[in-house]
Amino acid sequence: MEISANAQALAYLVSAILFILGLKGLTHPSTARRGNFYGMAGMAIAIGATLLGSEVQSYGFIIAGVAAGAVIGSVLAARVQMTAMPQLVAALHSFVGMAAVLVALGTYINKADAGLLNPVLMGELSAGIVIGAITFSGSVIAFGKLQGIISGAPVIFKGQHLLNAFIGVLTVALAIYFGATESLWALVLMTALAFLLGFTLIIPIGGADMPVIISMLNSYSGWAAAATGFTLGNNLLIIVGALVGFSGAILSYIMCRAMNRSIIHVVFGGFGGESEASSAVAVAAEKGVKSASVEDAIYWMEDANKVIIVPGYGMAVAQAQHALKELMELLEEKGVEVKFAIHPVAGRMPGHMNVLLAEADIPYDHVFEMDEINPEFATADVALVVGANDVTNPAAKTDPSSPIYGMPILEVGKARHVYVIKRSMRPGYSGVENLLYYQDNCSLIFGDAKDVCEGLVTALKGGGH
Ligand code: TAP
Repeated sequence: MEISANAQALAYLVSAILFILGLKGLTHPSTARRGNFYGMAGMAIAIGATLLGSEVQSYGFIIAGVAAGAVIGSVLAARVQMTAMPQLVAALHSFVGMAAVLVALGTYINKADAGLLNPVLMGELSAGIVIGAITFSGSVIAFGKLQGIISGAPVIFKGQHLLNAFIGVLTVALAIYFGATESLWALVLMTALAFLLGFTLIIPIGGADMPVIISMLNSYSGWAAAATGFTLGNNLLIIVGALVGFSGAILSYIMCRAMNRSIIHVVFGGFGGESEASSAVAVAAEKGVKSASVEDAIYWMEDANKVIIVPGYGMAVAQAQHALKELMELLEEKGVEVKFAIHPVAGRMPGHMNVLLAEADIPYDHVFEMDEINPEFATADVALVVGANDVTNPAAKTDPSSPIYGMPILEVGKARHVYVIKRSMRPGYSGVENLLYYQDNCSLIFGDAKDVCEGLVTALKGGGH
């Protein structure tokens, strides 16, 4: 069966509308499932309409490719840990980048043989190759850093920006030369330099800025797909590429705003290494840290009016969300108001905490964003921090020498009592010591977040003190 070009265009239009509805659905946890469904339906229609189009000449390779991709994708998706999701996303972006490069090279070879190259096509090919190659090597480096294969610390050397600018200018110059002359050596050199540029752009960026980089690479992968859409004359690919490109760019902007960092600083500055011991940290260290037991925390929690729970990466690692749900229910039975506070970059990916709390069926009306909840800490009896660290660090406000200075935080220190569940005195993702732990009203409950939360539940059931 083959469908006409008009029927295909109509199917593509339906897909594009479904993708837009999908993105809209993903803007809130309560509609995210529906959004995903729209996205899947849109993609199924798009694939079906493409396969039935007149340009497909044989199905052998397509079926083999889809089968291999489906097997690898399903195994990876089923096995991936929630905490390793950012790496998976980085790996998927690298595939999009590589696909854009290969499609552009393939098109060049085909059209050059047929004598069908023209300046517009050359421009599209160059854009596809350059953006695709940067996306590929940048995503591979991001994957390596997140997976711990290469160090997450920023790799900074003198003249870095100059080197990047030089490679960038040379790549563009070669793209123009290639466009004008169709020269093969210019194409090869341009491709190699674009791969190198992805590497040199991402390698200086440290761990704490990785989420922004992932979403920027997401944006690049969208533009690479759009360029491929132009090359292949496929309108849907152009639309989808632009949707991904813009939504990735908007997400990067939102995340930068959440960390009070400019995108220029993120892209061109190393960040996230070990902090130098600042005077504030040195003073705080002398004061010592208080540790507390589960019973100590329950003593204050069961008679509280308001308890605010702050989940972080440690909750995800320990999978403590179900125990937290039980804790919430038990406290509510005792008339305690329980709220959850979410920092925009808590965990390791945007929405990480929302997904886990939703998985444990914690009602959405108990979950609050940073700006909404911050004024409430001052009236909370207890702030319970569950495996969150950087997002609660007052150094971001008070210590100009701290690498996270300027990042907005959850102001847990304003609660009457603060209990922090973590396993050790090790710092969080950014490697910066947390000044919160030295405050008079703060105590640490050392242990795995799930074990401690289950301990809190047991103690509460047993009547606490
Ligand atoms: P972190 O600052 O990374 O702190 C997590 C804390 O959890 C650690 O101090 C760790 O201390 C503790 N922990 C780990 N496993 C635990 C377990 N099984 N039980 C109990 N505690 C455990 O996390 P955060 O406060 O959520 O901040 C997120 C950080 O990640 C920010 O710096 C952010 O910029 C960065 N980041 C965010 C994203 C996104 S988009 N969300 C992506 C990448 C990076 P112990 O080792 O002592 O237990």
